[in-house]
Amino acid sequence: MSEKPYAESSAQNRAPIQAVLEEVFADRRRVLEIASGTGQHAVYFGAALPQLSWQTSELPHNHAGILAWLDEARLANVLPPVALDVNDPVWPLSGFDAVFNANTVHIVSWPAVERMFAGIGRVLELGGLLCLYGPFNYGGRYTAESNARFDAWLKNRDPASGVRDFEALNALAEAQGLVLFKDFDMPSDNHTLVWRRESVPAKP
Ligand SMILES: C[S@@+](CC[C@H](N)C(=O)[O-])C[C@H]1O[C@@H](n2cnc3c(N)ncnc32)[C@H](O)[C@@H]1O
Repeated sequence: MSEKPYAESSAQNRAPIQAVLEEVFADRRRVLEIASGTGQHAVYFGAALPQLSWQTSELPHNHAGILAWLDEARLANVLPPVALDVNDPVWPLSGFDAVFNANTVHIVSWPAVERMFAGIGRVLELGGLLCLYGPFNYGGRYTAESNARFDAWLKNRDPASGVRDFEALNALAEAQGLVLFKDFDMPSDNHTLVWRRESVPAKP
């Protein structure tokens, strides 16, 4: 079995995110997690929400690490990762009544974020929920000095990355028929944004 990768951020934010998911995913059946990372979130949330089928996904080079966490946890409701690059024009699975993602829209480029929302539009059922966790700007402003520092650090590493504006993300969501229904304040100046799919816009 491979060594389990470990992300300290995931260990720190999992409990407050779990509290949100217990509220908003209480009646969900099938969740797609985009960019499962190490797999830590998947085993933690999968154990906390056993009624859910939790589908992990990632770029292929991260699959071994996720599988190491899944092999150890042995949770029947947490499914092995599918290869999913948010840029892909076709995603491997569809028909989800929820999508979860943490800490990815500030990592990938803005065109990739646009393609990610288009992909979510292809796989999320009418009435489905999208839950997005991370740092976001509002009205063009950082919500905290720590986020400004984080943004500078991200851009120094990759100029295409950066903390995203809530309003720009909301516009992408609305283009897919998603309507914001809750914005949770989270510890460490993060938020969890939850949208509900109210319509399926006709394809252009
Ligand atoms: C900061 S990590 C967050 C991981 C995990 N969601 C968490 O919160 O611990 C960002 C993740 O995005 C993934 N990623 C980067 N580019 C991607 C892409 N084009 N499609 C899908 N995932 C991507 C990376 O592999 C990485 O696991």
